Amino acid sequence: MLLQPYKGFFDGKGLGDTKKIFKERRNKMKKLKKRTRSMGIAFLFAFWLWPALGLAMDNGECLDCHNDEGLTREQGRGSLFVDAAQFHDSAHHGQGIMCIDCHADIAELNYDNDVPHAKNLAPVACSSCHEAEQDAFANSVHTQISSKGITMTCYACHDYHYATPLAAASVGQRDNNFCAKCHNPYQSHDWLPKKEEHFAFVECTVCHVPEVQRHIHLKFFDLVTNQFYKGEDILAILGLGSDQFMPMIDTDNDGTISRPEFEILELMLRQKNVHAIFHAELVAEMAPVAHQVMRGGAERNCEKCHTAESPYFEAVSIVLTKEDGGVDHHQVDRGVLKSYSLSHFYLYAGTRVKLLDMIGILLIGGAGCGVLGHLAIRIVTLRGRRQKKEKS
Ligand code: HEC
Ligand code: HEC
Ligand code: HEC
Ligand code: HEC
Ligand code: HEC
Ligand code: HEC
Ligand code: HEC
Repeated sequence: MLLQPYKGFFDGKGLGDTKKIFKERRNKMKKLKKRTRSMGIAFLFAFWLWPALGLAMDNGECLDCHNDEGLTREQGRGSLFVDAAQFHDSAHHGQGIMCIDCHADIAELNYDNDVPHAKNLAPVACSSCHEAEQDAFANSVHTQISSKGITMTCYACHDYHYATPLAAASVGQRDNNFCAKCHNPYQSHDWLPKKEEHFAFVECTVCHVPEVQRHIHLKFFDLVTNQFYKGEDILAILGLGSDQFMPMIDTDNDGTISRPEFEILELMLRQKNVHAIFHAELVAEMAPVAHQVMRGGAERNCEKCHTAESPYFEAVSIVLTKEDGGVDHHQVDRGVLKSYSLSHFYLYAGTRVKLLDMIGILLIGGAGCGVLGHLAIRIVTLRGRRQKKEKS
């Protein structure tokens, strides 16, 4: 299999008339074949020609036809369009995976035929490269439901052409793109106060996959614009390359951002006029085991998370995306969670007793508000209701 850069990826072809492109392609390939034949068989295997022959199978070749929004199957419906730009940004393209690495049964493109490859291709086996994920998934409630006649593929959750790198994704991006496609967590979890907060900052798999390693990602949140900054935004604001970040921040060079060093980072941001607070997200480590979603046995013990000693908070990191699309986890001293700018992070606000008191107050307060609110609505709507009664 040839792994090579994609020539002619964005050559702008493939957006026009499909038939015309077919013809052009076919003519081009015929010419190429003629030329190679006349050059003699010895040259054919000359190493400098090898890449030219490989050209027939690079992504650009497939996209010449498949980046056409109008391309459909002869029989049956369903678009055959693959968005080149979106594919370009995908995790697979970033790792040099080509069309034919997944559509592995296409051995060659034959332009003598209308369709240069078999019309019916074998289903793609994600497991050919992701065996560990497949094994973990086979162990989950989502595979067990196959006994009910429901078969879930990998791409029930992941996009097959446009899977984006997940390591730096926020809780919202991870859960909304996956679990929330099928589950509405607000319909259950009634034992959990502040559902919105928990679903925003605790990834579903953190509670639902008993085996997974958990850790804290610190996210920069801008109070002025009301949005999260991505890692690359932060680097851009500081004017640093990803390699320059740690040498600049971690002044004692111990590989961990200590509390004083963290405060300097905040100061640097403020000097750039960015008033960010840090939010702590509780995420599952990016590992195959994250696929082992189980029925029952999910985490519901408040103290597991809301105590200073929680084992979940051993790994605290800032996640920054590098220029090449890779991701760096920079370790941060967990003492940082006590910092004032992280006041949103509840557990460190005080002792456990204080915390539970607060929750008590919140719950009572919440119930009180509910009763008062109901009364207020009754009073406001009183006249309307009376009028209705009189009419009837
Ligand atoms: C000359 C145009 C052309 C090129 C080049 C081309 N395809 Fe296709 N492809 C088609 C057409 C047309 C169909 C629809 C066939 C049909 O009518 O069912 C198709 C169908 C497909 C399908 C769906 C098959 C199925 O079982 O439903 C896949 C997957 C596919 N192509 C992948 C590729 C890949 C990967 C490449 C590059 C190695 C490629 N194609 C190159 C024209 C092309
Ligand atoms: C990570 C694996 C992967 C890569 C890389 C990949 N495909 Fe696919 N492709 C799939 C899967 C999975 C399907 C769904 C049907 C199946 O299982 O074969 C699919 C379906 C298709 C289809 C049918 C229409 C559709 O969207 O369902 C076309 C056409 C296609 N691919 C073309 C391409 C082209 C062109 C490239 C390269 C730019 C490419 N694929 C790269 C996995 C991949
Ligand atoms: C029920 C939804 C779901 C299904 C189905 C699913 N995944 Fe995932 N996958 C996830 C989530 C969520 C993550 C992020 C892990 C985390 O939370 O840390 C992930 C992460 C990944 C990763 C990156 C982490 C790693 O293991 O390196 C890969 C690769 C992956 N999935 C491949 C697959 C494959 C292959 C399949 C099919 C066997 C599959 N996924 C099926 C939800 C799913
Ligand atoms: C030809 C090998 C190959 C095939 C087939 C393949 N992948 Fe991948 N995939 C990779 C490589 C290599 C990476 C990047 C390294 C990694 O994260 O494991 C990757 C990364 C991913 C990621 C992103 C993980 C992250 O780090 O954020 C997901 C999600 C994923 N693959 C899902 C799938 C799904 C779903 C399929 C089937 C449609 C599939 N892959 C088929 C090789 C493959
Ligand atoms: C494609 C749809 C789909 C997606 C996406 C999906 N699920 Fe499911 N999930 C199901 C189905 C179907 C069941 C089985 C329901 C049943 O048996 O009653 C299920 C069952 C479950 C159960 C067990 C429920 C019980 O009754 O105890 C949990 C927990 C769960 N899913 C969590 C998740 C999480 C976490 C994610 C995201 C990583 C996710 N699901 C993504 C469809 C989905
Ligand atoms: C703080 C931990 C926690 C978080 C976060 C969480 N869950 Fe749950 N979830 C539970 C517990 C505990 C149950 C009760 C059943 C059990 O023990 O599995 C449950 C039950 C469920 C069920 C079964 C519901 C039913 O009707 O019985 C589904 C489905 C589910 N969760 C999906 C999700 C999804 C999707 C997310 C992310 C948006 C999520 N959960 C986030 C702890 C959590
Ligand atoms: C899996 C870990 C986990 C579990 C279990 C959990 N929480 Fe949380 N909780 C969090 C995280 C993370 C946040 C969000 C912190 C933030 O806002 O930065 C949070 C937020 C909260 C908040 C809102 C704090 C605020 O500042 O608004 C309350 C109240 C709360 N939790 C109470 C509870 C109670 C009561 C339970 C048990 C029924 C519970 N939590 C179980 C992790 C958890």
